[in-house]
Amino acid sequence: MLSKELEFKKKLIVALDLHDLLEAQILVKQLKSYVGFFKVGHQLFTRYGPAATKMIQDEGGEIFLDLKYHDIPNTVKLAVNAAVSLKVNMLNFHALGGRAMMVAAVKSSQAAAKELHLSPPVLLAVTILTSLADPDLIELGISSSVSKEVQSLARMAYDAGVNGVVASPQEIAIIREVLPDNFLIVTPGVRLKDSKGDDQKRFLTPREALQAGADYIVVGRPIVKAPDPVRAAHEILHDMSLSLA
Ligand code: C5P
Repeated sequence: MLSKELEFKKKLIVALDLHDLLEAQILVKQLKSYVGFFKVGHQLFTRYGPAATKMIQDEGGEIFLDLKYHDIPNTVKLAVNAAVSLKVNMLNFHALGGRAMMVAAVKSSQAAAKELHLSPPVLLAVTILTSLADPDLIELGISSSVSKEVQSLARMAYDAGVNGVVASPQEIAIIREVLPDNFLIVTPGVRLKDSKGDDQKRFLTPREALQAGADYIVVGRPIVKAPDPVRAAHEILHDMSLSLA
């Protein structure tokens, strides 16, 4: 593995979408030298709770807690406080929870981190779920298009002091149009050119996602379900490194 490729490690987030903690631990052990963050989502956290995040910390990995909080501001404030106490490095919530909810999340994260003498985690907002299209928004009573809504929710998150958004490859450009480069974009739906897309219908390659302006990419199945996950991670890092070309 070339040092140029390893430089991209910090931009690679691996989604540990797994049923079993031991299986997750084996992957973390294998991959930790090649991965910036391990994403713990609903599946692993609902089954194992803080044992899942502790396992990753014990292995020396960094954590993106992907629980997409969406509730009244006070409840999200308390959930963020609890997440910070788990010493996660990145966490998220739905921008559709509203401005006051996002401001409460930001303040809670800063206060909890200060109290525990930690760096605050990176806070990310989910704008419109990529499983929703324009007709779904109409049904929900939202009259603007997905792209307009993504833009305005991203801007609201930025104004609330949130560090960035989770955005599909198709949304990177429209967010970069209205927000500065230091507003982070984390992009799932990434596949190597010759791979099957699973249920990701419109994907970009790792190189394309970075060139389009993504700061981090999230990769799940192409790595965790690969016959050789380390080799798969190397291939992704190699493709990421081509973004410099
Ligand atoms: O296996 P795959 O690479 O498709 O996994 C992508 C990960 O990113 C999953 O954990 C999925 O929940 C998450 N995600 C996504 N699309 C979004 C938001 C999150 O695929 N819009």
